[in-house]
Amino acid sequence: MLAIIGGSGLTKLSTLAVAHRRVVRTPYGEPSSALVFGELAGCGVVFVARHGHGHTIPPHRVNYRANLWALKDAGASAVVAVASVGGIRGHAPGSLALPDQLLDYTSGRAHTYFDGGDHRVVHVDFTRPYTPELRDECAAAARAAGIDLQDRGVYAAVNGPRLETAAEIDRLERDGATMVGMTGMPEAGLARELELPYAAIAVIVNHAAGRGDSAGAISMEGLYRTLEQGMTHARALLECAAPRIAKRYP
Ligand code: HPA
Repeated sequence: MLAIIGGSGLTKLSTLAVAHRRVVRTPYGEPSSALVFGELAGCGVVFVARHGHGHTIPPHRVNYRANLWALKDAGASAVVAVASVGGIRGHAPGSLALPDQLLDYTSGRAHTYFDGGDHRVVHVDFTRPYTPELRDECAAAARAAGIDLQDRGVYAAVNGPRLETAAEIDRLERDGATMVGMTGMPEAGLARELELPYAAIAVIVNHAAGRGDSAGAISMEGLYRTLEQGMTHARALLECAAPRIAKRYP
C-alpha cells in the first residue's frame, strides 16, 4: 500500500476517496495526525498530514519517528512525501522536482530508531537517500501525464522555522544544494532505517533568500499563492503515480 505524507498546503488529499480514519499510537508517541485510509485512482492509500490536519505542528516539532513507524505498521510498502521548498538554483517557483540527493543541516531532532540502549547498533546505507526505483515511477508518471517535473535536485534540509539569510543560501549553494526545505530530514533517513522505499515530490514555492524575486525579502503572500498552485500539480502527479507505484510495491 502506498503511503503519502502531505506537507504544507496538502493537509488533506481532496482526490482521496476516504474509507476510514484511524488514530494510532506508536512506541515513539503519536503521529502528526490520524491516518487516513482510502483509494486514489483505485489504489489503496494511507495518508498522514505531516504538520497535523490543522497545520499546527512546525517542522522542528514533527514526530517523524512516529509518522514513519505508524505508516509502516499500517502496511505501507512505499512512501511518497510531498514537501514545499525554496529554489536555490535551477528550480522555478511553481514547478515540481524529484530530488535525488540531500544534505542534512538539521539538529536536535529525534533522527534514528537505532538509539543505543537496548537497541542494536545499526548503520544503514544512505548513499542514495531517495529510492531510485520509486523515483523512476514518479518520473514516468509525470512524463505520461504531461506534468512538468524536474527529475533531479539536491535537497538541503534545515531546521527552521525561520527562513534563511542570503549568506546561508550562498553557503548551501556552494555545498551543492539546489533547493532548501525544513522537513526532508530526518524523514528520509528514518524511512531508510525502516527499509521503506521513499521518494519526495518537492514543490518549489519561492526563490530562496537572496535569489530572484526574493533578492530583498521572501514574500509570504507570494509563497502561499505559489504553494496552492504547486500543490494542484502535486495532487495530479500523485494520482497518476499511484497505480504505477501500487504495481511495483504491492
Ligand atoms: N527555505 C526553507 N524552507 C522552505 C522555503 C525556503 O525558502 N520555502 C519553503 N520551505
